[in-house]
Amino acid sequence: MTHPGVVPLLDRVADAVSDAIGRTRPELAGADPVLRPSERADFQSNAALALAERLGVRPAEYAAELVAALAPGPGRPVATAAVSGPGFVNITVPDRVLWAQVAARLSDTRLGVPATEHGRRTVLDYSAPNIAKEMHVGHLRTTIIGDSLARVLGFLGAAVIRQNHLGDWGTQFGMLIQYLDEHPDARWRHDDVADGAAVSALDRLYRAARAAFDADPNFADRSRARVVALQAGDSPTLDRWHDIVAESERAFADIYAQLGVLLTPDDSVGESFYNPMLSGIVAELLEQGVAVDSNGATVVFSAEVTGPDGAPVPLMVRKSDGGYGYDTTDLATIRYRIDTLHAQRLLYVTDARQALHFRLIFETARRAGWLHDGIEAEHVPFGTVLGPDGTPFKTRAGGTVRLGDLLDAAVARARAVVAAKNPGLTATELDAIATQSGIGAVKYADLSTARVKDYTFDLDRMVAFTGNTAVYLQYAHARIRSLLGKAGAPAPAVATDGPLETAERALVLTLDAYGTTVAEVGSTLEPHRLCGYLYRLARDFTTFYDACPVLKADKPQRGNRLALCDLTAQTLAHGLDLLGIAAPERM
Ligand code: ARG
Repeated sequence: MTHPGVVPLLDRVADAVSDAIGRTRPELAGADPVLRPSERADFQSNAALALAERLGVRPAEYAAELVAALAPGPGRPVATAAVSGPGFVNITVPDRVLWAQVAARLSDTRLGVPATEHGRRTVLDYSAPNIAKEMHVGHLRTTIIGDSLARVLGFLGAAVIRQNHLGDWGTQFGMLIQYLDEHPDARWRHDDVADGAAVSALDRLYRAARAAFDADPNFADRSRARVVALQAGDSPTLDRWHDIVAESERAFADIYAQLGVLLTPDDSVGESFYNPMLSGIVAELLEQGVAVDSNGATVVFSAEVTGPDGAPVPLMVRKSDGGYGYDTTDLATIRYRIDTLHAQRLLYVTDARQALHFRLIFETARRAGWLHDGIEAEHVPFGTVLGPDGTPFKTRAGGTVRLGDLLDAAVARARAVVAAKNPGLTATELDAIATQSGIGAVKYADLSTARVKDYTFDLDRMVAFTGNTAVYLQYAHARIRSLLGKAGAPAPAVATDGPLETAERALVLTLDAYGTTVAEVGSTLEPHRLCGYLYRLARDFTTFYDACPVLKADKPQRGNRLALCDLTAQTLAHGLDLLGIAAPERM
């Protein structure tokens, strides 16, 4: 059974306005009630502005009709309705209805959020670092965004299948394996080198192999022979390849643990997995006439995208030397994920520069009939992480920034900031909090930026206690938890007939919109909407807390205010968790 959830007031009032439209003018039944949160009331409907023309009356006239039809009545969540401006209808909700929402959300383990993605089989491709190479800052965004989407969609009830499309196949492995064989003294295994250094060693050896390949034609020939051996399944070559993959995956697992992401080795389905399917894919495309031969290679000419010369852009499915690349493998992911994993929604979280790649892949899969109606395939693009100078983030020496180093630096910075704010913490507490805040800060800075935009990696801003940061939200949460701790006994039931002040009202309305925001993230795949919501919630809470004493208030206000504190803390912690960020009890 789908969890029905607590219906948000926005939806209930929208229904009331729809109902009023149908009663006043049956011919308009089903028209959009155009309901929004309002600065002047709880909500405002702009329906009259949109509908008056169809009726041949002035908007204010029809707004007045709607107001009359919205008069308080049994079951109608309306306390007042009034015409405003040229034809807006301002609506307020009865206080007891607002308090009842708080009570209903507090008594539900899901905070009243319905499972809007219930049962939808969603394959989520994210992270996907490359074997024998270090994870770098370029893998940060896909890993963080993908993981947050996995959490949000999972919470909304989707059957999320994570796929880590590791770059574990290709001619470069022939080169690396050949080089390792010719340099038996090279040390690159976890057991032979310092902690965490195995993949760095492999990365270095890989560069050395490439240099040898470019400089020495004989080595290049031996490397090519190795590729053939690898593809033919030669067993010593395969053993060596397995070793390299395992060592790299160990290093990735360390980063995943540090980041606290959901990915496990079971989610690894690398490029090599699809290798046996590629010749069949190309044969089928040729048979269907979707792919054609072109100068010895096999290509699909796009029917939708043309290049600068006006000619259709080709997708290379088999190179003239008979090899397959990234494109063909991604066609195979679509087939496999639909036919075998039974995906209803396919998501690929990679940087925006791959937009054309996915456009061509999806087009080809549609033409081949693999990607059919009712299945949604989406590239989930994101912008670049920039350095302080506004260009793609590099180390001072101009090299790629290792993800591990970056995360260590963030934790160290958070430690200093938290220690200065709260000198009373023990070293053990400080260690734990610094990790949660430092990692949270990096994740939040990434997730709170509109996904397709670039952002600047600025540690000082990320770990600040003020502004739209994880640390600000974590601190807001910890403060409320400490307040609740001081209140002692568990809060009594919400008194729905209690008074409701302006700042309380604003807070209740924001709390009530949590599920709507999470559902929006599920459909738009934009976690920054949740960040923006949590920031607004924390600020509405601060305004409430400045205006309304909690512990010193009398009954029933004290209990009701504690309920607001409790629901705010739970909502903050829950929302942070959906972003993959911890909410410590103390800070
Ligand atoms: N390994 C690739 C990279 O590091 C990303 C793969 C993304 N997933 C996919 N199915 N193409 O850029």
